[in-house]
Order: sequence, then C-alpha cells, then structure tokens
Amino acid sequence: MEGTAPIPRSLLFVPGDSERKMVKAIDTGPDAIILDLEDSVAVERLPFARELVRNLLDANSGQRASQLWVRINPLATPQSLADLSAAVGGSPNAILVPKTVSGSDIAQLSHMLDILEVREGVPGNSIGIMPVATETAHGMFALGSYRASSPRLIGLTWGAEDIAAVVGATSNRRSDGAYDDLYRLARTLCLVGAKSAGVAAIDTIWADFRDSDGLRGDAEAARRMGFSGKIAIHPDQVAVIHEAFAPSMAEIDHARRVVEMFAASGTGTVGMDGKMLDLPHLKQAQNILASASYKAGPDG
Ligand code: COA
Ligand code: MG
Repeated sequence: MEGTAPIPRSLLFVPGDSERKMVKAIDTGPDAIILDLEDSVAVERLPFARELVRNLLDANSGQRASQLWVRINPLATPQSLADLSAAVGGSPNAILVPKTVSGSDIAQLSHMLDILEVREGVPGNSIGIMPVATETAHGMFALGSYRASSPRLIGLTWGAEDIAAVVGATSNRRSDGAYDDLYRLARTLCLVGAKSAGVAAIDTIWADFRDSDGLRGDAEAARRMGFSGKIAIHPDQVAVIHEAFAPSMAEIDHARRVVEMFAASGTGTVGMDGKMLDLPHLKQAQNILASASYKAGPDG
C-alpha cells in the first residue's frame, strides 16, 4: 500500500453524528479515531453523519496526529455504498467494515475503493481495510479466508456483541464475568486469522468504560496473546491502552540481551540465564523491541 500508516495501538470510536465527541477525540489524541456510521448512528441521522464525517476528514487533510478511519455499514446493506461514497474523497486512512462473511468481502470492498479513489482524485491504494470478522455465524468459520484477499488489508478485529445477538445468547459472559466459550473462540480465531493473513490483530472494546482496572487487565491479556492494539469507546480508555501495549523496561532489557546474545553467538540456539533460547525467542525479542516505539506517520 501507498504511504502505509503504522498499526495503531488505540482506536477510539466516535459516533459519526456527534461533532462534540469528534472535537474531544481529536484533543484526546488516540493513534486512530474511528468515525462510526454504523451501530452508534440512527438510520435517520445517517445523511447528517456522513456530512459531518466528511467535513472532519477534509478539515484534517494534511499530516494527521491521529489516523482517521471510518466504519461503514455492512456491505450487504444499501447504506454501505453511500457511506463509502461520502468518505473516500476525504482520504480516510482506513475503512472498518463490520459483519464480514469472508475474505471475498475484502476483495469486493477493495475494488469499490479502487474506483472511488479514481473518482475522488485520491491516491490509489491509499486507503486500508480492517474487517470486524466475527460478527456473523458464517464469518466465524471463515477466519482463515482473509489471506491474500487484498493488499489493502491491514488488520483483523473481532466483536462480542453482534455474534451474541446472532446466536440468540442472553449474555456473552459467564456467571463469573469471563467471556463465554464462543467469544474466546472468536478472539482466538481473530488472532490466528490475522496472523495467517500476515496482518495485525486488534482487540475488541471493553464496554464498561468506568472500569479502568478491567480494561487494563483485558488489554494486557490481549497484548500477551499477540494483539497489536485495542479499540476504545471512551477518551479515558486511550491512555490505559497505550500503557498496556507498551513493553515494560524489564521486557525491553531482556529483549535487547536476547538480540545481542544471538548476534554474538551466530548460532540458532543459545543458553541465557539457565534457559534454552532458539529462533522463536529471537523473533519474540525483535517483536518487543519493534513495539517499543510508536510513530504517528512516515515523518512523525
Ligand atoms: N469520543 C469522544 N468523546 C467522547 C466519547 C468518545 N467515544 N465518549 C465520551 N466522550 C466525551 C463526552 O462527550 C464528554 O464530553 P464533554 O465533557 O465535552 O461533555 C466526556 O467525553 C465525558 O463523557 P462521559 O460523560 O463520561 O460519557 P457519556 O455518558 O457522555 O458517553 C458513551 C458515554 C458510551 C455514550 C460514549 O462514550 C460514546 O458515545 N462512546 C462511543 C460509542 C460508539 O461509537 N459505539 C460504536 C462502537 S461499539
Ligand atoms: Mg456492532
């Protein structure tokens, strides 16, 4: 992709019909803002929301401190085309597409973007795509289908609300408060689906926005699993997410020692602190060092 933007650690959702929240979101400075045209906007307010979203994109057309993404309506709905048509001319950094069924949805959306980028005079292949890939029953069986769907694909994320409604669950939580099996499966499949496609996995929202301890624990678990970032729904969640996705000094020191040890030995296996380390450990250490610095853009 052209001018590839870095993978955001934090992505703050903002209802597309709320100018007040848009202003607040820009002030908050998450790595990305997701301007929502789907579930947080009533259908009657959509025309107004599309205009507001486009105005915000146009008003932030240069180097952006926060990437600006747009969540469109599902491809199977008539709203999705109007959403895209309104958004593309504003050069959003990426489109978040909900309720995808498989990788062929990404290929289809990518073709639509090819055409709209030409129509709007936006650089070709400049707009990325990330699906919310676990929101339909069929989609749950297709998490391995995103590989090679489009060079625009930058990540996969998952959701625990829509799929609960689809299967007729009364709650997505067990009585002890932990996610039930289906949602743990969705999270895990999202992770391996993303990795099989060679893209980032982004963790879903923590809905209880006053519970920052709960959010911290959830975000730390996501990072431990291999997720690169997490979606936020409230400005207060952004700093907590940044902290959770930053490696600790101890992790960085350890990773540096591992990298130095391998460089010095020139072999595929080394002993360090009484433990065997081989090439996956080197890769892990390199990942930790890479995640230690987030830069807003190619110049930032
Ligand atoms: N983005 C930007 N600003 C936000 C925000 C968000 N996601 N959520 C809250 N704020 C603002 C509020 O407008 C308020 O600003 P103000 O002081 O200027 O009035 C301030 O932050 C404090 O908000 P608070 O009173 O704690 O929450 P609330 O009751 O106003 O809002 C929600 C609660 C859940 C409605 C709100 O957080 C929200 O709209 N979240 C995003 C929902 C969404 O996009 N969902 C779709 C994806 S799941
Ligand atoms: Mg939804």
